[in-house]
Amino acid sequence: MLMKKTMRLCVAVLLVAAAALLVVYRAVNRVPSADLPQYEQVYRIFEDGGCLSCHSADPELPFYTKLPVAGKIVMKDVDSGYRAYDIRPFMDALKVNGEVSEVDLAKIEKVVLDDRMPMPKYYLVHWGSSLTAAKRDIVLDWIRNERIVMHSDALPENRAAEPVRPIDQTVEVDEAKAELGFALFHDPRLSVDNTVSCATCHALETAGVDNHQYSHGVDDQLGGVNAPTVYNAVYNFVQFWDGRAKTLADQAAGPPLNPVEMASPSFDDIIAKLEADKSFAKAFKAVYPEGITEATITDAIEEFERTLITPNSRFDKWLRGDDSAITADELEGYELFKKYDCATCHVGKNLGGQSYELMGLRRHYFADRGMELTVEDNGRYKETQHERDRHRFKVPGLRNVEHTWPYYHDGTRETLEDAVRDMGRYQSGVELADAEVNKITAFLKTLTGEYQGKLLTNDTSRDVIHDHDHEH
Ligand code: HEC
Ligand code: HEC
Ligand code: HEC
Repeated sequence: MLMKKTMRLCVAVLLVAAAALLVVYRAVNRVPSADLPQYEQVYRIFEDGGCLSCHSADPELPFYTKLPVAGKIVMKDVDSGYRAYDIRPFMDALKVNGEVSEVDLAKIEKVVLDDRMPMPKYYLVHWGSSLTAAKRDIVLDWIRNERIVMHSDALPENRAAEPVRPIDQTVEVDEAKAELGFALFHDPRLSVDNTVSCATCHALETAGVDNHQYSHGVDDQLGGVNAPTVYNAVYNFVQFWDGRAKTLADQAAGPPLNPVEMASPSFDDIIAKLEADKSFAKAFKAVYPEGITEATITDAIEEFERTLITPNSRFDKWLRGDDSAITADELEGYELFKKYDCATCHVGKNLGGQSYELMGLRRHYFADRGMELTVEDNGRYKETQHERDRHRFKVPGLRNVEHTWPYYHDGTRETLEDAVRDMGRYQSGVELADAEVNKITAFLKTLTGEYQGKLLTNDTSRDVIHDHDHEH
């Protein structure tokens, strides 16, 4: 009798306690005031969400991280959170309503849509942190608006918030400079023995690549990294796999003096050869009164490279509202591309080229590769010597990717299907089914665009990958 009474009392107390907790939880986890500007509401949501605690180099950690057991569990999340994503630049920009990157928008949109962040074990302890439906709506609405503001070309309503954007139809260039740049790009006099031009490794007829694992320079010397395409390189935030060149002009100063590429002893040497060509020197001076210098050579090449964009792909037509431009399978491939996080790194006009990302985010790529580590495998680390940057690479763009084989910085994947399957495994943490691989590949093939009104093609035989690449 007494027992039963006590039980009832206990249950009642518990219920009251739970209800009280819920009230407190609700009170703690409020949406920011609607009177605040939208960006400030979003800032507060992420501040309350504890995002900076696990996604920055200098986290403000709660007291319990000092406790032995709890501390260890939390520190593991902090380490792997920061390894996966640094949210600091985004938060700093957001705080002052500054410019945020498309990569940040895509990454944050994805974890909010999937309801992945912050993880339950965090928000169960930090009551105000979970992203309630109301908070998610505010964030997603803000992301949509940011994308629309960021891009001048208005897409139809139902495509306006896509993470992938169409390539510009035209570019403004100085025609005379671009013409000189075209000539220089194809001029072997930039190399020590007049045998190798930029086009040797980046031929425009072969999608801007050489289709070798590693490139062949003067004296048939081999480099140690795969040549990316020059098409749409203008959209990259930096150049080279490790980002060591800030602009296309900076980049163009590299190959002429690179000992395994064009191997010229100096720019003076190149300039002397070009000066000796009277008609070239005259044409050059007409455009650049200051004459032939390293700065004017690289400026002209950059101007030419700015013309190397490939608009009007079938996918871009779809983005602009032509529903019949791609097939149902290709569209499904795009949906999978978004579902499996691909579009969080391969984002924007060039589907990449906007951030450095870890190769092997979800599973150790280099351990599985079975090839000894090379200097190039260090990626961004070569430039910064920061341990966090080891194996981090500038994300390659995926425009015209059906023609730019072999793939990855190490050129180890010969088919697009293999590259896609491995991306699922190492970057997204999923084993893609064959049907999924095929659909994503079909989608990627819709990204092939036009240069000067002609669809890009590449007739190179696949045998060239092996053409004494592996003998050296
Ligand atoms: C307790 C630590 C913790 C908190 C708090 C936290 N995260 Fe994370 N976050 C992680 C970890 C760990 C991962 C990696 C998870 C994985 O590999 O699946 C991650 C992954 C991510 C990623 C994906 C990175 C990628 O490339 O897949 C994003 C984006 C992200 N978090 C954003 C946020 C945002 C926004 C918040 C705040 C609302 C937040 N996180 C709060 C620990 C945290
Ligand atoms: C011997 C072959 C070779 C020659 C010649 C060559 N390149 Fe490259 N190019 C490469 C390789 C390999 C890379 C990647 C190197 C790296 O990332 O470290 C590259 C990278 C680039 C990139 C960066 C693309 C990106 O997505 O990061 C551009 C742009 C480029 N080259 C333009 C040029 C220009 C302009 C010239 C002539 C001045 C030239 N290349 C000459 C092989 C070559
Ligand atoms: C966390 C960021 C990230 C995610 C997610 C990601 N990628 Fe990548 N992707 C990269 C990086 C970095 C490379 C270059 C890796 C290297 O060269 O070692 C790359 C390379 C590629 C390449 C080869 C391109 C070339 O020219 O060599 C393809 C194709 C590709 N990704 C497709 C995908 C697909 C499909 C998905 C989704 C299943 C995906 N990626 C997910 C970062 C990512």
